[in-house]
Amino acid sequence: MSTAPPLPCDIRAYRSPDDAAATYAVFQAAIRQTASSVYGPGQVEAWAGPAPTDLNDWDRRRGEASTLVAEVDNTVVGFTDLLPDGLVDMLFVHPRSGGRGIARALLTATMYDARSRGFTELRTFASRSAQPTFERLGFTVIADRPDNMVRGVSIPHAEMCRYLS
Ligand SMILES: CC(C)(COP(=O)(O)OP(=O)(O)OC[C@H]1O[C@@H](n2cnc3c(N)ncnc32)[C@H](O)[C@@H]1OP(=O)(O)O)[C@@H](O)C(=O)NCCC(=O)NCCS
Repeated sequence: MSTAPPLPCDIRAYRSPDDAAATYAVFQAAIRQTASSVYGPGQVEAWAGPAPTDLNDWDRRRGEASTLVAEVDNTVVGFTDLLPDGLVDMLFVHPRSGGRGIARALLTATMYDARSRGFTELRTFASRSAQPTFERLGFTVIADRPDNMVRGVSIPHAEMCRYLS
């Protein structure tokens, strides 16, 4: 639960290729530090994945996925996305800025964007780390997936949805 006051941030669209390194660094830090409180070392390693030889593929996928980034003082502190089928695939906040409302700001902006594009619901596969945040933002669990596998390692998560009124 957030105990510190909200950290004012700017939400803007992902810029390719300038945001690639910063969003990848947030992804790694969020998994290796924040998510390591709920997943073991093997699960963290599998999820974080091998270090890329270059960031071109990461950049291409972020660019294709309607990615939003959160900035504080011109530094990227978090990002999320919205795939064409209404899936929120990514939600990562750097641990230095965690618990300060960054994910709330990102998801609120994504829901606004989704409504304006005609979506009536969003779905996600929430990690054990992110499930309370998604619940707080109005998502409900459709199905728990204790058998989810990433790179041959079991990383349980939950399929969730959020109706957009
Ligand atoms: C999940 C994550 C994105 C949350 O980011 P964050 O910026 O720290 O979240 P926020 O501060 O915006 O919190 C959002 C809301 O969830 C609530 N919340 C967060 N964790 C909670 C918990 N364990 N129990 C109850 N509520 C919780 C907060 O209190 C807040 O509610 P409020 O705005 O009404 O006060 C971040 O912890 C993270 O990157 N985790 C690791 C990576 C990960 O698992 N990503 C998801 C992949 S599916």
